Amino acid sequence: MENADIGLIGLGTMGSNLSLNIAEKGHRIAVFNRTRSRTDDFMANAGELRDRIVPCYSIADLAAAIRPPRPVIVMVQAGKPVDEQIELLKPVLSEGDIIIDAGNANFHDTVRRFSELAGTGLTFIGMGVSGGEEGARHGPSIMVGGTRESHARVEDVLTAISAKYEGEPCCAWLGEGGAGHFVKTIHNGIEYADMQMIAEIYGVLRDGFGMEPKAIGDVFATWNKGRLNSYLIEITAKVLAADDPKTGKPVVEIILDRAGQKGTGRWSVIEAQTLGIPATAIEAAVAARVISGMKDERLAAEKVYGGPGRITSYGALIPDLELALFAGKIAAYAQGFAVMAGASKEFGWGLPLATIAKIWRAGCIIRSQFLGTLAAAFEESASAPNLLMAPAFIEMMKEAHPALRRVVARAMEAGLPMPALSSALAYFDGYRQGRGTSNLIQAQRDFFGAHGFERIDAEGAHHGPWGN
Ligand code: 6PG
Repeated sequence: MENADIGLIGLGTMGSNLSLNIAEKGHRIAVFNRTRSRTDDFMANAGELRDRIVPCYSIADLAAAIRPPRPVIVMVQAGKPVDEQIELLKPVLSEGDIIIDAGNANFHDTVRRFSELAGTGLTFIGMGVSGGEEGARHGPSIMVGGTRESHARVEDVLTAISAKYEGEPCCAWLGEGGAGHFVKTIHNGIEYADMQMIAEIYGVLRDGFGMEPKAIGDVFATWNKGRLNSYLIEITAKVLAADDPKTGKPVVEIILDRAGQKGTGRWSVIEAQTLGIPATAIEAAVAARVISGMKDERLAAEKVYGGPGRITSYGALIPDLELALFAGKIAAYAQGFAVMAGASKEFGWGLPLATIAKIWRAGCIIRSQFLGTLAAAFEESASAPNLLMAPAFIEMMKEAHPALRRVVARAMEAGLPMPALSSALAYFDGYRQGRGTSNLIQAQRDFFGAHGFERIDAEGAHHGPWGN
């Protein structure tokens, strides 16, 4: 009976597609789902891959079906369900077996689970998987944490199922403990910023310029052939071109403007704040989703204040929009990678930033041409304190930031919300201002709280002549 190479629990969309991917790459996989009928349906739809899949109807059967040492992927809803599965697995697994959590876990939970399992003889891998349904089936980007040794035991299968970028697998071990899930969280934070900035430009084209969805889709389709080439721009063009079968209207017009979120964006911001690293574009993107949820309040406020106005004589602004989006993207990625660099230091992970950029070049949701440039920049300028100071990015940002400035200015004048792009610009402007204004903040702090300040002309802590 022990003939599967690996097991998987949770045949939801991601789990079933990952299982088919594993079977397709020649590995025998044992699968289990709490609801029996789901396992039966999955097997009925597995086609010829069925021969390499062992359906199991209990956790004990699943364990018995896998050749030891047993790797078991858990692909269930993040949070408590993962802990429940671990508890169920503990009695049926044995020394050396590996539990792999492939969901979008909070890395603190991963660290906790890892240490809770230490001493049981079982090991734990927290693994970020990106690429949605399609990626899971045909090649996701895989970010592995946990011990190097446990990764070595599953490396073959993970490499086989991962996306390939010009033949290179988009899968890597990134560091101990929660490193894989942390990197996946930041991937999602960047995804939030990317999506929000695209939506802001869509807002300018729709509300500022009064363009129809299909025409806007054409703009994105054109941009997808240039420097913005990416999966998110590609699907944006496709989404804007699609019609609703029920009404015949562009489908984007009948979708309620209220965005969902499951937590990874918010976790990115919390971790950035805890580490003391600004991630303002990601933060703005998370806040924009929250504001989007206040539909009724927004409708009421529009009645009171009026909504955004039109941008007239925008001809010259259209080419600017592409560059503005690019500049915003550079700033958002600079922030995301700075957070990873900070976490790497704090948790002693030694995160390989160039490798992370490389394994994001294919398979994941933020895959893009840009990530290739980013990987090269990290390889060439490993000592740059921020992506904004890597030579290749200095050139690109010098070209793009004036356009971001013009676009943000016109949008602000018209009352078009641009939280992520304007935060990206403010971050850039703050970063490049040699003499800032916090001398005043220091004076204020000293005035009301005697907190002291540094002088530009003498060492040590000083106080002002406030006379209070
Ligand atoms: C991915 C996606 C995936 C998921 C998002 C959606 O990398 O494949 O990021 O993980 O679809 O988590 O997240 P929200 O529901 O929070 O937008």
